[in-house]
Amino acid sequence: MSTENRGEWGSRMGFILAAIGSAVGLGNIWRFPYTVASNGGGAFLIPYLVALLTAGIPILILEFSLGHKIRSSAPGVFGKLSRKYEAIGWFQAFIAFCITTYYVVIIGWAFSYAGYAINGAWGADPKGFLFGEYLQLTDSPMNLGGLNMKVVIPLIIVWAVNYGVLRLGVKEGLEKANKIFMPLLVVALLIIVVRGVTLPGAMAGLDYFFKPDFSKLSDPQVWLAAYGQIFFSLSVCFAIMYAYASYLPKKSDIVNNAFMTGLGNCSFSLISGIGVFSVLGYMAHTQGVSVAEVSSAGVGLAFVVFPQAISALPGMNGIIGVIFFASLIFAGFSSSMSIIEAVVSSISDKFGLTRKQALNRFTALSGILSLVIATRGGLYVLDIVDYATNQYGIVMAGLAELVIFAWFFKTDSIREYANDLSDFAVGKWWLFCIRATSVILGVMFVLKIVNEVSNPYEGYSWLALGVYGLGVMLAIMAASVVFANKKGSDNFEKTIYGNPLVGNELTGDDEKKSSIEEASL
Ligand code: ALA
Repeated sequence: MSTENRGEWGSRMGFILAAIGSAVGLGNIWRFPYTVASNGGGAFLIPYLVALLTAGIPILILEFSLGHKIRSSAPGVFGKLSRKYEAIGWFQAFIAFCITTYYVVIIGWAFSYAGYAINGAWGADPKGFLFGEYLQLTDSPMNLGGLNMKVVIPLIIVWAVNYGVLRLGVKEGLEKANKIFMPLLVVALLIIVVRGVTLPGAMAGLDYFFKPDFSKLSDPQVWLAAYGQIFFSLSVCFAIMYAYASYLPKKSDIVNNAFMTGLGNCSFSLISGIGVFSVLGYMAHTQGVSVAEVSSAGVGLAFVVFPQAISALPGMNGIIGVIFFASLIFAGFSSSMSIIEAVVSSISDKFGLTRKQALNRFTALSGILSLVIATRGGLYVLDIVDYATNQYGIVMAGLAELVIFAWFFKTDSIREYANDLSDFAVGKWWLFCIRATSVILGVMFVLKIVNEVSNPYEGYSWLALGVYGLGVMLAIMAASVVFANKKGSDNFEKTIYGNPLVGNELTGDDEKKSSIEEASL
């Protein structure tokens, strides 16, 4: 896309809704509850909130400022710093690519389950129904077992909706779709919460969700899971927010928008957590077991425990079930569109393709790859790719981004840039947070790798982890280098490389110019 044709949000509200819409997604309703449950319940909330305030919101300010200033998607933003960094932008875009391939499949499951919820088709054994009748799960990730049409059909619907919206562009497509999906999501979640907290046993669920367990704070796994969850949930470090901010009009408040997006997203997580854990509390109550026991279903939590809970409700089972899965669909769409946009804008910015051309290519390739997740062994692949992407890919992309900005550039000028545009200013703490996060994340990442070697994820074979985890990560790293080394369109080469950012351009502070040269924004 040429710079003039990149599209622009129609209103500030439109941008905020889209940014919160991107952030609030399956991550909040499908992923957050099982991440909380598998990291010791309420113990997780402290690292989660620390990660939000010290990493999530500062990174949102960073990405909004750079996307707005440079008016480009991630490869252009990193390329503008130096040609050697463009590959990091591509790595982020390819992470979005990986996430798309399984994200759309989960929205497809939600479609199926919204239908099954009407008459409780899962019967008395939702676990057997999910893994047996619906997913027809094979015995191992190395046995894909052919396409599962029960998943393929809703998947096609999900692709069609995403494609249709994105074809319409930023203002007519993304902005309008978010104006529809987000209010629907709020209403759906509120209904779930009200129903949930009024059930017997709800308090035990909430107690499990909110009660801190300070002993867990010394476990680096819990912290890394919290950072991974914050990055995934806020849609930072995988190219989305650069693209979204690049469509902001020149006069846009950066700091406020970042706080609204960060706090808005986490409020959604807490609200959906209240809904989900009160229902889990009810489940535990009806079965006479502990909340920890019922909430240990991993990725299947939303599709195993919830259906079980829906069947056990004292009334309105069908309606509540449909509303729950509809909330996954609404949240899923507003995020999947942004994840796809991150890649589409990267391709069209660099290679000068129109939105339609880039979207067609992306949809063809990602659509085919998503069929792997729609096979009978797809759940295993999904689980491994999701784990590799979140706990390694996004963390590595985040680390690269943070290390560069924390230590190699005069990043404080970005803060001044954001402050000039914003109603309220961020202080020096911002850069401190970026620096501290880069160090904390680096240390935790090393500890994580050490632990992985002795405890392979979920006991999968090294072959499966090597192919779908490490293999996918290495493939997207290689692709990032290849794409970064391809020649861009004339417009890309001119706007990104023809006019490098030298001197303290963001602050216009001439005095500093000579001393900072290349190492500055
Ligand atoms: N931020 C999106 C989510 O949480 C990707 O699902």
